[in-house]
Amino acid sequence: MITTTSKTIIRQHVTRNICKYVNSDRSARVIRQKFLDYFLKDCNHQFIRSSPVVPYCDPSVAFVNAGMNQFKNIFVGNQEPKFSKVANSQKCIRVGGKHNDLNVVGTDGYHHTFFEMLGNWSFGDYFKTEACELAWKLLLDVYKLPSDRLYVTYFEGDEKLELEEDLETKEIWQSLGVRPDRIIPFGLNENFWEMGATGPCGPCTEIHYDHIGFENRSNLLNKGLFDLTELWNIVFIEYNRNIDGSISVLPNKHVDTGMGFERLTAILQDKNSNYDTDTFTYLIEAIEKNCPHLEKYKGLYGEKDWNNLDTSYRILADHLRMITTCLADGMVPEQNQKLRRIMRKCFSLSTNVFQKDGLVKELSNYVVDNLGHVYPEMERNISQIHQIIDYEEEVYKDLQKSAESEWGELVKGNEKLKHLDVLEAPSLIPAYKDLMKLKPKEINGEIAFKLYDTFGLDPSVIEKLAMSINLPFDKKQLMIELEIAKKKSKQKSEIRMNDLLHQFALESIPKTCDNSKYNYRKLENNNYEFEPLKVKVLRIIHHNEVVRKIGSDTFCSLLLDKTNLYSEAGGQASDKGIIQFDKAIFDVTETEKLNSYILHKGFLKCKSTYNLCVDSVGTLLVDKENRISIMKNHTATHLLNSVLKQLKGATCQKSSKVTENFFNLDIAIFGPKLTITDIEEIEYKINSIISKKLDVETMIIDSQKLLEYDDIITVPGEIYPEENLRLVEIKEKDRVISREPCCGTHVTNTSDIEHFSLVKMKYLGRSTVSLNGVTGHNSKMATENGSEISDEVNMLKKTVSENIDKPDVLNIAVASLRSKIIASETLLPVYIKQKCLKDLDDISKQVKTIAKVTLNEFIDMEMQNVLDSKVQTTYSNKKYIIHYLRTSMILETVPLQRATKMCKNIPVMVISYTDNVVQARCCVPKKFCTENFTADKWLQESAVKVFEGCITNVKGQSEKLVCNMKPKRVNIQDWDYLLKHSMQAAQEFVDKYL
Ligand code: SER
Repeated sequence: MITTTSKTIIRQHVTRNICKYVNSDRSARVIRQKFLDYFLKDCNHQFIRSSPVVPYCDPSVAFVNAGMNQFKNIFVGNQEPKFSKVANSQKCIRVGGKHNDLNVVGTDGYHHTFFEMLGNWSFGDYFKTEACELAWKLLLDVYKLPSDRLYVTYFEGDEKLELEEDLETKEIWQSLGVRPDRIIPFGLNENFWEMGATGPCGPCTEIHYDHIGFENRSNLLNKGLFDLTELWNIVFIEYNRNIDGSISVLPNKHVDTGMGFERLTAILQDKNSNYDTDTFTYLIEAIEKNCPHLEKYKGLYGEKDWNNLDTSYRILADHLRMITTCLADGMVPEQNQKLRRIMRKCFSLSTNVFQKDGLVKELSNYVVDNLGHVYPEMERNISQIHQIIDYEEEVYKDLQKSAESEWGELVKGNEKLKHLDVLEAPSLIPAYKDLMKLKPKEINGEIAFKLYDTFGLDPSVIEKLAMSINLPFDKKQLMIELEIAKKKSKQKSEIRMNDLLHQFALESIPKTCDNSKYNYRKLENNNYEFEPLKVKVLRIIHHNEVVRKIGSDTFCSLLLDKTNLYSEAGGQASDKGIIQFDKAIFDVTETEKLNSYILHKGFLKCKSTYNLCVDSVGTLLVDKENRISIMKNHTATHLLNSVLKQLKGATCQKSSKVTENFFNLDIAIFGPKLTITDIEEIEYKINSIISKKLDVETMIIDSQKLLEYDDIITVPGEIYPEENLRLVEIKEKDRVISREPCCGTHVTNTSDIEHFSLVKMKYLGRSTVSLNGVTGHNSKMATENGSEISDEVNMLKKTVSENIDKPDVLNIAVASLRSKIIASETLLPVYIKQKCLKDLDDISKQVKTIAKVTLNEFIDMEMQNVLDSKVQTTYSNKKYIIHYLRTSMILETVPLQRATKMCKNIPVMVISYTDNVVQARCCVPKKFCTENFTADKWLQESAVKVFEGCITNVKGQSEKLVCNMKPKRVNIQDWDYLLKHSMQAAQEFVDKYL
């Protein structure tokens, strides 16, 4: 056992020892460069840039978690490598799944959510001997690490998988001079590397580094010691882990290595913690600089870090690198809940611990500054990073306001809940309430599954929740429930697999080949030509039954050997077409894809005596007009997507739908909402791209090529095929206007779109806007309609001053134009629609202001006449006034208080009726008030009773002296009758009680 004192002595000794070997320049930047120079220049490897941390083509992992991810297909033999030996430094994220370091981040000095992995690969080239030699030489000769600090491990074999001990590797290490007592075997857990639940895998050999280096500590390897850590993993990829858990041998043998860059830097800079190296110190210093009110970072861990401040420094620094990387690579919290939770954790730390708003965004600048030269996409996308951080911080703050108060109430009942961060998991509130209703004695598998499935709580949050409310929680049971659910959903989808499909497969019917859907070209006369296709009817399906023949006008589906029609995919609607047979025509109204079988739905047109039989041969023709309209709309969708990104920065496509009439694009915009000016600009930009007549090129690429582009628009969360991926590209000289992976069909030149208009815009929640666009004829029509209606509105605007004395005329004109714009189905460009509506609103306001002045004058005059007894009305005499204030103006309200104010010394009731709404007001001067005669009683027994209204008090005044009847809608045909009755009742009341 080493005592603390002896450790200190050892460390001093060690430092001297290391310094002797290490070059003077040991900055992280130089260390990374040395690795690359060694492999690329000295050892003839090719550089392959780091892939984005978003796995475009691999649904089995949520983030790129190792350097080998981008080479997975080469390993399993599905892709040809461009080079046989490559190297790079890869951005990696480990926050979930098989390799998950999230929960320990901050508690030690060497686990991270984001790290850089230095790697070299051999694709069927060198294998074990050279891989070990290359690594050993780099560490000893280039980095000058002392060999007595290094240990190596190798795979001890596994009976169950029938894998033998890797003695070959053991011997290689011996031949390289590693002492036998430093070559240690380990089992599956440590020395058999797997990317995830499935995929390429193989035995590995690891190089570990001893920070102490005093005695042989091989017995402490893989025990999680901070000063004895794994440095380099060299994997011999020979197998594939299959879905059923079995292992199969791969066609070729490959090498996949990964060295933790931050750990290597710590060793070379002689630090025990990665946070003390220059891969992190710049960030820790940036936090200190931004938060001078707080204690500085002291590098304390565990209990010594009593207030968790140093741990918070570490978490924030770690997470900032992860967040910045993800956002630079186009990942959005909208789509990735893990990223959102980690961002919220940072907002929470910066608010609660570091007490500094905007800290996260500020720190992201430092990360970009530090890593941007290695990963230029960070520099390129800095405004996107900022925009999303700002947006998320705002969402977080709003959430904070609403969730914290509710959670605060719940916490009052149970102080321990305080340790749960409701902002990281807002569904804790309904989940906790639900639990309180259930009052369980434990959180068993079933309850935990509900918390997971219904409320979306992570197992780690469920664990914390269970602890806070002192309930035992069976995490293992939850994992079992999750497995069962996974299996069930798989079974369900299998059952859903149509019976027909099953039958087709049993009969070994070949899948429908639809490659010809892309066989079209533009002729010199600018028309599109779609190749007709000879097809054979393989099956006829009527009412879900396979039949031998079908007669005229019966709706059915034909399964053909091949097709040139497009089946709905990537949001694009399916084609229409016709099949010409010898004696009949089949009208295809739609196609449906059942796995790889394509059904052509429609009707047969032929003589009533004719039947179409299986095996008939015909010619399939695409409905040209329909398809061309779809192609125009699809290319326009791409243009809209890229113009929006260019204009609004961070955006993320949620869904799209392309039909022959219009297209719809739902897109999240992280920032201010779209304005009319934005819309106008978008239309202008797209129309100018159309008029520039740019070629739309389609090329076939594979997943490796896909990773070479970083100006590509992808749908976050979408998994793209690894092979035969279609890339649709529009360029103006060398400038990329739009570049999207897409399986749809497009026009070959932007000029074919003819014209573009946005005809609908609707916000669906805070960030997502739903846009509808039209092209070609529809767009021209929309534009024409737009200018027509604009002209009408402008005309009206001009007549306002002439008609100022006729507010009703103006109001009717406004109402009629407004309903023409809103209610009609007419296609109108959104910005024209909104501009016109705004103009109409302005006219309305103008009319109202003028009408108000006129009305006030009218009221004054009318009431004076009443007082002077000039108005002939049965209900007025010198002792009281009951008056119907008749106005022809269409106004929202009539200011009755203006009328009653003029009759200060006399009980008065005034009634008005405008725009189908009756109003009444009653005032009784104090000297006339008696127990029976008050304003409220008078009104109650007359107007309120007759119109079935209700009384509202006037603020600050007694209802005995003054009160109103709440405005009430009354049908015009009932008006005269009800008015008469109410006034009669008012007079009767006055006669009786005044
Ligand atoms: N794929 C291996 C790892 O991640 C070696 O790079 O450890």
